[in-house]
Amino acid sequence: MKNIVILISGGGSNMAAIVKTAQQENWAQRHGARVAAVLSNKADAQGLVLARAQGIATEVLDHKPFESREAFDAALAAAIDRYEPALVVLAGFMRILSSGFVAHYAGRLVNIHPSLLPAFTGLHTHQRAIDAGCRFAGCTVHQVTAELDLGPIVDQAVVPVLPGDTADTLAARVLTQEHVMYPRAVRALLQTL
Ligand code: GAR
Repeated sequence: MKNIVILISGGGSNMAAIVKTAQQENWAQRHGARVAAVLSNKADAQGLVLARAQGIATEVLDHKPFESREAFDAALAAAIDRYEPALVVLAGFMRILSSGFVAHYAGRLVNIHPSLLPAFTGLHTHQRAIDAGCRFAGCTVHQVTAELDLGPIVDQAVVPVLPGDTADTLAARVLTQEHVMYPRAVRALLQTL
């Protein structure tokens, strides 16, 4: 069985979309794959509730007590590796990852970012797209490499920026597309592993 481990920090709606698609499409039988665990660096991440309700193993690893990014990332990798993951999926995991962590998961670590990369790496992507006068925005699934938000692109989806959009209305429009694109991208990646 190819194990998928999903990392979240908040709402977990992308995680939930992947879990739902895996169930609906019967990934276990058709692709020999399952979501084995959902890990969060925040104990109050809403997504943990969703994951537990689906009977998926969850773990919380709070980054705050750790002395360094490297120390946290090493503990996180140890927790992830207990599930022997074929694929590690970042889904709203709001941490910058150390180069050692990224190297450890080379070729099996993906992220979703709420912009049309390479535009608007980092935070506040929707407000920045509006401020720049962009007519289109979107989201990107990419392989994770040492350079923040700039690994090879797996897939992208485009939405219009509409007159009167706020960061919130644009984010909601983009998120709807994330929920379609990320499960599809994960499924495609699983087939290459
Ligand atoms: C999503 O929009 C995702 O693209 C973004 O956080 C949101 C998480 O929502 N990720 C980043 O900004 C990564 N830098 P979710 O927890 O409901 O999936």
